[in-house]
Amino acid sequence: MKKILIATEKPFAPAASEKINKIFAKAGYKVFTLENYTDKSELLTAVNGVDAMIIRSDQVDREVLDAAEQLRIVVRAGAGYDNVDCNYAREKGVVVMNTPGQNANAVAELAIGLAIYGLREMFSGKPGGELRGRTLGLHGFGYVAQNVFRIARALGMKVIVYTRYSKEAAAAIGLKNTHSLEELYRKSDVISIHVPAKGEHLRSVSYDVLKELDDHSLIVNTARKEVINEEDLLRIMAEKPHIKYLTDVEPDQKILFAEKFRGRYYATPKKMGAQTAEANNNAGMAAAEQIVAFFENGDTTCKVN
Ligand code: 3PG
Repeated sequence: MKKILIATEKPFAPAASEKINKIFAKAGYKVFTLENYTDKSELLTAVNGVDAMIIRSDQVDREVLDAAEQLRIVVRAGAGYDNVDCNYAREKGVVVMNTPGQNANAVAELAIGLAIYGLREMFSGKPGGELRGRTLGLHGFGYVAQNVFRIARALGMKVIVYTRYSKEAAAAIGLKNTHSLEELYRKSDVISIHVPAKGEHLRSVSYDVLKELDDHSLIVNTARKEVINEEDLLRIMAEKPHIKYLTDVEPDQKILFAEKFRGRYYATPKKMGAQTAEANNNAGMAAAEQIVAFFENGDTTCKVN
């Protein structure tokens, strides 16, 4: 009997867990659950003897992979898999998958919510601004950005994008792809970041890019902290005293940001982009179905390593 571990430091909604469990019960698999854990040692113990794992932002590094001797597949219920050591997993013959698009609308709605919160001066009573008529710059054009685009257009925003990998998707809907990241940041009132924490995206939001921003612009980051050069962000926020930064992924120097930029910086206390009942259902069930399809039919459709 296959043994499946659902390891979620930030648990799925109970209804989603129920649906995931049903999928595995139907396949005849046994499920173990590790939720709200606070110490890595709990994960190291839990992975012992399991054939598959579903995770969220949980760290699956060498140590975890070494402790999981029987592991054949890890599915990250979500988009970004920078929390998994994919190369080492491949070396060990462990398949890594994600569930592309499944939580995209949830993250997109939060990005728009953060933009509104920033423009409305964080509900402080100061007169704020409106999204209608402003230009939104999408940094990246994957599933999340495509949902942000849909919502932003309905709100009456002008939308532009900078993408290298989704040019065709942007062109198909007549979206203007700027020639450079610098141009995107120069022409946007609101920037929404949607690139993964890998390759050339790491620290791609650097001073050279940030210096193009207008002093009253807003940066929304629902992607990863690693795509921003934090020192450069601190520098530009000091140089241009109206730029705001709203994020679902706390920077390393979160205390400094909060102290220096009161009213211009906001971070969700816990990463919340994908934390909706709908996204939990979609991503969790997709992950479970992918595991069953992998074991029963050898299906590796969403493999990322
Ligand atoms: C993702 O990469 O899918 C999002 O960042 C969601 O992360 P979470 O599952 O930890 O909420």
